[in-house]
Amino acid sequence: MTDLPDTSTNRRPIDESIALLAGVDTWHTAAVSDSPPIRMSDGPAGVRGTSWEGPSSASFPCGTALGATFDPDLVELVGRALGREAHGKSAHVLLAPTVNLHRTPIGGRNFECMSEDPELTANISDAYVRGVQSERVACCIKHFVGNDTEFNRLTISSDIDERVLRELYLYPFERAVAAGVRSIMTGYNRLNGLFCSESEWLLRDVLRAEWGFDGVVCSDWFGTHSTAAALRAGLDIEMPGPTRFRGDLIRQALDAGEITDDHITRAADRIVELGRWARVTETGTDEVSLHDLETRQLLHRVAMSSFVLLQNTDAMLPIRSDRTVALIGPSASTGRLQGGGSAKVSPEEPSGITDALQARGVDVHWERGCHIDRTVPAASGEFTVEYFDDDGNVVTDHVQSLGFLWQQNPTDGIAWRFGARISGSFVPDVSGEWEFGFRAVGRAKLVVDGAVAFDLTEPETGESFFGFGSREHTASVSLTVGTPCRVEIDYPIADHPGIRAVVAGARAPEPADLFPDAVASAGRADVAVVVVGTNDEWESEAEDRTTIDLPGRQNELVAAVAAVNSNTVVIVNAGSPVSMPWLGDVAAVMQIWFPGGLLGAAVADVLLGEAEPTGRLPVTFPKQLSDTPAFAFYPGDGEHAVYGEGLLIGHRWYDTHHIEPLFPFGHGLGYTTFDLSNHHIRQLDDGGVDVSVDVINSGRRDGTTVVQAYVGYDGEHPEMAPTRRFAGSAKPLVAAGSTERVTIRLPRRAFESWLDGGWVVPEGRHPVFVGLSSRSLTRVDL
Ligand code: BGC
Repeated sequence: MTDLPDTSTNRRPIDESIALLAGVDTWHTAAVSDSPPIRMSDGPAGVRGTSWEGPSSASFPCGTALGATFDPDLVELVGRALGREAHGKSAHVLLAPTVNLHRTPIGGRNFECMSEDPELTANISDAYVRGVQSERVACCIKHFVGNDTEFNRLTISSDIDERVLRELYLYPFERAVAAGVRSIMTGYNRLNGLFCSESEWLLRDVLRAEWGFDGVVCSDWFGTHSTAAALRAGLDIEMPGPTRFRGDLIRQALDAGEITDDHITRAADRIVELGRWARVTETGTDEVSLHDLETRQLLHRVAMSSFVLLQNTDAMLPIRSDRTVALIGPSASTGRLQGGGSAKVSPEEPSGITDALQARGVDVHWERGCHIDRTVPAASGEFTVEYFDDDGNVVTDHVQSLGFLWQQNPTDGIAWRFGARISGSFVPDVSGEWEFGFRAVGRAKLVVDGAVAFDLTEPETGESFFGFGSREHTASVSLTVGTPCRVEIDYPIADHPGIRAVVAGARAPEPADLFPDAVASAGRADVAVVVVGTNDEWESEAEDRTTIDLPGRQNELVAAVAAVNSNTVVIVNAGSPVSMPWLGDVAAVMQIWFPGGLLGAAVADVLLGEAEPTGRLPVTFPKQLSDTPAFAFYPGDGEHAVYGEGLLIGHRWYDTHHIEPLFPFGHGLGYTTFDLSNHHIRQLDDGGVDVSVDVINSGRRDGTTVVQAYVGYDGEHPEMAPTRRFAGSAKPLVAAGSTERVTIRLPRRAFESWLDGGWVVPEGRHPVFVGLSSRSLTRVDL
């Protein structure tokens, strides 16, 4: 992988090498004589920069959307655009992509990940990495390994047997290393009892010795748990800083003989080498929004390529632009661009659905129907914030929202150990019982109109703000329209876990006619487009979902709309599968994931047929949660998550156990129809095969489809459980009435299993299947 000369130097003082082994703050490494600070930034759906309030960023489609494109070439362009975004934020390392697998549809971070399938994940993530790194920005691929759900994520042990690890969960990382990824982030979790950040088997034996990785291994934020053990295993850098396990403790471990100079120098050299490769300079620290037209056009295209048309009865879609549209749903007007947690960016000029349809001349009217806020939204008004620190510094700021999340000192002139007094008022726009919500990291007090509403004197943890904050406390307060409500927050100086946050929310009483107005509007329109889904609170880091059912009254809303309008189109705006009890009552259903900043333009163009939705499901949609592979094993006993479903992840489970999914892996419709014929397979010298097929566009419109190849097994080997594995795909564009021949190359690995400590092709026949989803396949024998 190294394409630059070895830069290891014995002249760097040992203190500097030690300083390099931990961040100095949330995003930077130390400056030393042979390296300026390296800046890291989240990822994966954009490049946020060093703060949540900083300049906006292009908002990219989430991981599942990228998986749904089944299009590595397109995703490589995404990577390049992300590389340019990283330059805009002066970042050298992008903390992305996330390549954990969808083990259960309720995994809180599934939306960041690409698929349930290891091969698809690897194909998409390799392209992502290639693209980003072509801009000399390093990818830090994450989270290595078995961080597939969020339940007790900081301590849980993912108990996975070696074959399952090798064939499924390690596979995307192995491929990324082979593709030259520069950095890798360890998971928070333990693997078979040991923290990933100090597992010698994982980091030293597999990653470095076997795969030959010579890049930087970085901890997840606060995911380092020891000094000597972690460094010995091969964890190069503890993030974030200031350090908790390194610095003086490294020196003590050295003096005690628990680690050697060599451990320190080699890790430090790798970090310096990473900076050199990424061309880190002293000067470049600016953060700007690029507002790049090329990126915007790409985001538009990728979003449309990720949308999966699940059902389209009687060619309901596309619709004519002279139809009147009732747009319905809690976030239907703007759409939800992204999931929650560290993957979020502050999006540049988001495109909403109402605006985009109106711009295309459609008569559209939006009704909310219901709300799905999980917590009470931050109050908006005019507020003054007085920051103070232990040195007596005081700095005053003015804000319009009572939602605060700090990952570094809040402003110049104030230390990172700080407190805040926040006061001001907002003016209720309706009279009645308002709901107040309050949550914080650490101690905090909220006073409303002079009375103490909440006093979190015993700080709670384990819920909000990545698990570092309290649960949300709620209470109702009677307010009068137009009479200012005075709010004060007292947030004292305190030690903190690297994050400080407080949110005071206020929600107006819900009008009684929200639901009926939406249904009435649907009844009046030619077409009802109902946008349902989750949001960045339901699908977010640090918490899994508990159900695949849509939150709030959304199922009822779809059913009520469908009852009054037979031209009902449902758009599912969620990062992972949801149940669809109303499926048989609506004409069309399209999954749009969290598609990023060009959501509105992309939805409008596919609804109106300006473009075809060409995504395919990168994850099986189950009929119910109890049908899913990990259901019997999730979440485990709180300490151990035993991966009892073994190799049968995703579609392999449904096929092997003959369970009917709601929609199978690989499914997706378009605006034309396809037939496959003339299947042929050719053995290659290296043990792989080429499988070829004619793709016939039998419709009247040019269109794109995804041809998929799977490998089966007919032999006697008792451990060859999966019925079929996904092994590769091609995505041809075929003109109306034309035929294109496509060839999919399946390498030898597609036929191999990890048996008896190595990769072997088990005895027996390995038929190849080709088709347009995991449930519509033709067998092709050699
Ligand atoms: C997440 C990482 C992320 C890091 C920095 C952690 O909470 O697990 O994916 O890169 O924070 O924000």
